[in-house]
Amino acid sequence: MVSKYDHIYKQLESYKEKNIYRELLISSIKKKKGKGDSGNSFYLGNKKAINLCSNDYLGLSQNPLVISITKGSLKQISQCSSRLISGNDKNIIKLESILAKHRNTKRALVYPTGYMANLGAITSLSSPDHVIFSDSLNHASIIDSCRLARSNAIEIFRHNDIEHLSLLFKKNSKFKKIIVTEGVFSMDGDIARLNELSELAKKYDAILVVDDAHSDFIFGRSGNYGGIPEYYGVEKQVDIHISSLSKGLGCFGGYVASSELVYNFLINRSRQFIYTSAIPEHLCVAAMAAIHFLKKNKNIQKDFISLINWFRDQLKESGFNVGNSASQIIPIIVGNEKLALDFSKELFKNGIFIQAIRYPTVSVGEARLRISINASFSKPQLLYVIKCLDKIAKKMGIT
Ligand SMILES: Cc1ncc(COP(=O)(O)O)c(C=O)c1O
Repeated sequence: MVSKYDHIYKQLESYKEKNIYRELLISSIKKKKGKGDSGNSFYLGNKKAINLCSNDYLGLSQNPLVISITKGSLKQISQCSSRLISGNDKNIIKLESILAKHRNTKRALVYPTGYMANLGAITSLSSPDHVIFSDSLNHASIIDSCRLARSNAIEIFRHNDIEHLSLLFKKNSKFKKIIVTEGVFSMDGDIARLNELSELAKKYDAILVVDDAHSDFIFGRSGNYGGIPEYYGVEKQVDIHISSLSKGLGCFGGYVASSELVYNFLINRSRQFIYTSAIPEHLCVAAMAAIHFLKKNKNIQKDFISLINWFRDQLKESGFNVGNSASQIIPIIVGNEKLALDFSKELFKNGIFIQAIRYPTVSVGEARLRISINASFSKPQLLYVIKCLDKIAKKMGIT
């Protein structure tokens, strides 16, 4: 008998055949009384493993000072209302003014997540007079934003390919233009050519949107951590800065930093801002405490970047294909989906967790282990990781 769920069964079966079926794992952090954890290991089920998959790049999500300030601020779980009704707590406003200063913009608007910040900004800014130009490796939240936007068309330019983008601009000369790129790309760890993108945006009077989720609070001017726009010195040429607070900052939430005009427009227009509950205020207190900590500890950035570069060099020396990674996100590209899954499972047996990333997060045949390291790793710990990666990759014929 044909069931009303037939299409679902079929689809799940096809995911299994293609080795792209996903399952949830249960993770937890166990802390010994009075003892802080370094933040780079956790439990999956009952097995302890080194976690090389967290976006908590600076280890701030477990920072004792940030946790204690956040706990002390906890008066209610949530404001239980949208910001335009009765949820606009003063701590959200305080955080927004800190974020605007951090990004060197007039204003910042906080959203409950980075995903919603992307949707909110990109869908609101576009109109039938616009064409959106999106890098082919942009994150799913940007892809979904483009799909939801009421633009005339969406043009996907080849990854970081300015010449291709220029050609597409010429093809769409009669339309207004919005360019969307990531700062550091989430699955490849390479850096957008933002200096050239900003020149092109200026030449064609295009709106330049940068999703800096993976570079915010990591790259940028020493001690300010203003991300990739600051790294190139083009902050003022970026019209819309989008970011997540749940990566470099180790907290939760997202934001759009922009001009006063765009800020007011989003408050009036962005459905992802208007029709959802306000971010809980204690999460804003956490973000402010984390930013304060970072800006007081200016050497974190320099030490972390030198650790990243050292680790990447070690991986390259071992013969791994790390693509064009130039950040804390370092993929080991293996290609085949099953090979990536098996590689990940073997590593886990050795107490190392690196998730296999497969289609549709990356293209078919470009499966990889996406490593992200955390500032709290020590070199001996990372040397152990490299030793295991090396041993298993050789056994499996990857290197
Ligand atoms: C590039 C990029 N943008 C946005 C997001 C969404 O951020 P959030 O996790 O805060 O929703 C992610 C999440 O992984 C991301 O990688």
